[in-house]
Amino acid sequence: MILEPEKFRSFELAGWQEIPAGYHDAFGPLTSQAIEPLLDAVRLKKGQSFLDIASGPGYVAAAAAKRGATVLGIDFSAAMVAHAQRLHPGVEFRDGDAEALPCGNGLFDAAVMNFGILHLGQPEKALLEAYRVLRTGGRFAFSVWAGPEETLGFGIVLHAVELHGEPRVELPEGPPFFRYSDADECKRGLLVAGFESPSVTKVAQTWRLPAGDGLFNAMKDSTVRTAGLLRAQKPTVLQKIRDELRASVEKYTKGDFVELPMPAWVASGQKT
Ligand SMILES: C[S@@+](CC[C@H](N)C(=O)[O-])C[C@H]1O[C@@H](n2cnc3c(N)ncnc32)[C@H](O)[C@@H]1O
Repeated sequence: MILEPEKFRSFELAGWQEIPAGYHDAFGPLTSQAIEPLLDAVRLKKGQSFLDIASGPGYVAAAAAKRGATVLGIDFSAAMVAHAQRLHPGVEFRDGDAEALPCGNGLFDAAVMNFGILHLGQPEKALLEAYRVLRTGGRFAFSVWAGPEETLGFGIVLHAVELHGEPRVELPEGPPFFRYSDADECKRGLLVAGFESPSVTKVAQTWRLPAGDGLFNAMKDSTVRTAGLLRAQKPTVLQKIRDELRASVEKYTKGDFVELPMPAWVASGQKT
């Protein structure tokens, strides 16, 4: 596998530019479940300076502002930044790359990245950048999905593609989607970047989607890499995958909604 960080970045950026509203509807209620564990992991207190990296629609930034922090949210998608600014007019958001943050050294008491690291071509650079912008004693935390055997939303889709489709489509090669879905890899990443006392905990999360095609639509219209995988399938194959998804979510359906387990890891460390 030859990684293509620049091509991968362009592919991700083009994808995120298209989907702020769809992401907000489909994923917002899910990724928001990691906010309090992240803010607790960095021990955020009133009056502290706080950076939300890959802030998307700005959920963590807004929650940190509610805790009384001085907050900046940074995302490389101008469309996401605009969406976040509309949702949270009292919080500051700015365009910027997680791998080259547009911030000086040692500025923040705390920083987090909620489900951002798995979208980066060079996540090691982003971990170094988070370290650089924190003051000594500052804390950093990130969240990632648990593996597909536990995050059923991903597991069901990947299984359906394995069964009916072509899992190795031509997309710009990025790091493995589930690379950090492993407590040891999270700790290793933090230690290599210079953080001390890394700690990793699992957070239970539930994804509530419309019954029937809710999962298929969310993955096809409101993601980047998984959407790329689905959209690259032939139409007849895509229909089979869709049918497979409808059948697979049935046992998780209650009335008009599907409820899927989507646990996350929350990893944190301190700059000492
Ligand atoms: C899964 S969303 C997470 C959004 C948000 N943190 C949340 O809590 O839901 C990933 C976000 O990472 C952003 N992103 C991806 N690569 C990035 C990069 N290199 N630098 C900054 N932001 C990036 C995307 O634009 C998108 O908003």
